[in-house]
Parts: sequence; structure tokens; C-alpha cells
Amino acid sequence: MIGFFDRLARPLLRAFDPEDAHSLALKALKLAPRRRPRADDSRLAVRAFGLNFPNPVGIAAGFDKHAEVPDALLGLGFGFVEIGTVTPLPQAGNPRPRVFRLEADQAVINRLGFNSEGEAAVLARLAARAGAGGIVGVNVGANKDSSDRTADYVRLIEAVSPVASYVTLNISSPNTPGLRELQRASALDDLLARIVETRDLVAPRPGPTPVLLKIAPDLSLSDLDDLVGVVRARRIDGMIVGNTTIGRPPTLRDRASAQQAGGLSGRPLYPLATRMLAETYVRVEGAFPLIGVGGIDSGKAALGKIRAGADLVQLYSALVYRGLGLVTEIKAALLAALDRREADRLGDLVGVDAAAMTAENWPA
Ligand SMILES: Cc1cc2nc3c(=O)[nH]c(=O)nc-3n(C[C@H](O)[C@H](O)[C@H](O)COP(=O)(O)O)c2cc1C
Repeated sequence: MIGFFDRLARPLLRAFDPEDAHSLALKALKLAPRRRPRADDSRLAVRAFGLNFPNPVGIAAGFDKHAEVPDALLGLGFGFVEIGTVTPLPQAGNPRPRVFRLEADQAVINRLGFNSEGEAAVLARLAARAGAGGIVGVNVGANKDSSDRTADYVRLIEAVSPVASYVTLNISSPNTPGLRELQRASALDDLLARIVETRDLVAPRPGPTPVLLKIAPDLSLSDLDDLVGVVRARRIDGMIVGNTTIGRPPTLRDRASAQQAGGLSGRPLYPLATRMLAETYVRVEGAFPLIGVGGIDSGKAALGKIRAGADLVQLYSALVYRGLGLVTEIKAALLAALDRREADRLGDLVGVDAAAMTAENWPA
């Protein structure tokens, strides 16, 4: 199946509008014969947020926004799947076209704006797969027209905690006007106080469902200082670093598409996102685990994220250019690093480069 996709379907899909291609890929995954994932080498296992991940490579939010194919994705070998962003009420998002490929840069710009089928539809799908196993996190966001965005997050935590392995608060999408303001310390402290209260009340099993915070790579370091302080004080379970960037690195070659409004992801995001990960790691001081996301397109890039401070990694954009077989390639590369005796376990490599990275020049 992966071979079919990567050799035949992927070049064909790239001839379509990116959003149409994505819909076709989801349809194909729905139709694909369901398989149990091949058991991973036990040396790839990671324990984080109280969960046992069979391997550290996850699929990032945005690929399966409405929980249509989580089990097909687990079957492809991902160690975990993050569905969403899900909003309380259904909403259409921005007008199309709103996703753009930057082929020369192996990058994507999107301004989808939280197109979501809404909480009820997603909950029904997740309830239908309850007991199927595998780690399925749910990424949640506020409705664009909401008069109380904090209330939207609280409501979603209540609704999805019973069916989610973990919940991610997405306050870092650049495509919902004003959303990133929630990252400011005072607004964030209020949000997290209410979230933690709700998390601890809705405890569906021994211990509450872990709550993670996904941040933008565009924060200033002083804003990051404040943010990490609040997250630690409020005892949030982990952070994801990070979302797409509103920046446009000067190295971009597809200058025409680079002018599209929206968040940039893929290979050109790697230096900034990895630096922000290292900056976050040194501030968190081991208080909780981090998920590293942004521009991973190879085993080497995934290992770089781990060395910068990630216990787990996620990817999305590289799947467009490298195909679904990339997950297998990355896992093999991580095992090869262990075989070369770079470490006994992956966990021994987490953050080994972080301090040195924070002393380098800021990435362009
Ligand atoms: C088309 C597209 C849609 C996305 N939608 C979401 C989303 O709904 N919620 C979210 O938290 N991140 C979303 N993201 C961001 C990804 O989860 C990820 O943080 C970012 O793309 C960086 O990783 P990458 O370079 O591997 O793609 C989206 C990314 C893309 C390309």
C-alpha cells in the first residue's frame, strides 16, 4: 500500500490542487485494507505524559482534522496520531485556494483557518473506535466567531478527554485572527488555570488525560520565558514546538508562492523550529516532555529534533514530497543511530545538543 502510494499515486496527486490531493489521499486511506501495525523494535519505545508510545514518530495535527483515518495512519507505522484541530461548532475556514505547495523549497503555506466538522462529528468517530488501541491525541481550537475563546477550550477539554489519549491546546495557529494573543502570559495563565481545573475534574481513568500546549515558532525569547514559566506553574503535561511560521526565510526559492498569506511549514521551517525547541528545552529543565515538529523530512532531521530536546517528533509537510514511506525510513534511521552506539536508548540523546544550539547565531 505504501509502495503504491509512493511510486504511483503521489506524483499523480501532486498534479492536483493541494487540498483536492489531500482529500483523495484521505479517501484512499479510508479504502485501504486495515492492517495491524507491525510491532516496533522495543528500543524505539518512549514513555511520556504517562503514555507508552511504541515509537517516537507521530503524524502532526492538520492531516486528519476530522478523525477520519486514525487507525489507517497507525497501521502505516506512526507511533501516534494527532487529529484536529477540532473546534466546538463546525466551521468552513477561509475561502479556497488556501493551501499552496512551494515545490522548489519542499514547503507548504496554508491558511485553512480551522476548517472543522466540529466536536460532535469528531466525537462520534472517536467513540466508534474506542478500545481500538493506539495513541490518538486530539488537537483543539476555538471557533473564529467565538465570544469567549477560553470557554471554547474548556468545553472541548470536557468533551474530548474521555476519548483522547491526550489533548493539545492549539493557541498558535496564525490563521485565526488574534488566536496567538492567548500565548501572552496573563491570558495564558487564565486559560491554563481553567483548563487544569477541568482536566482534573474530568478524569476518565486513573489520572487525568494529559494536556499539551502547542506554541508558535515565532515567539520572542522573552515571551517564551514568560510562557514556559506559566506552563510550569500551572503543571501542564507537555509542549509541542511548534506550529507553522508567519516568517518567510530569505532562502525561499518559490518567491511567488512565498507571498501567499498563511503559515509556512516543511523543510525551510526546520532551523527556526529546532532552535525554538532547544530554547524551550533549556527553559523547561526536564519538568515535562516536548514534542518536536517542523521540517522533519529524514531520519537525520528527526534525530536532530531529539538531540535538540524532543522526546517525540511529529511531521506533516514532508509526507507531500517524500510520501508515507518516510515514517518507516525515519524509524530505521533512529535504530541505525542506536546500532552505531550513539546511545543505548533514544532517551539518552534527548537534549544533548540543546545548550550548544542556544549559543549559535539565530537562524535566518
Ligand atoms: C495543510 C496543513 C494544515 C495544518 N493544520 C493544522 C491544524 O489544524 N492544527 C495544528 O495544530 N497544526 C496544523 N498544521 C501544522 C502542523 O501540525 C505542523 O505543526 C507544521 O506543519 C510543521 O510541521 P511540518 O513542517 O512537518 O509540516 C497544519 C499544517 C499544514 C501543512
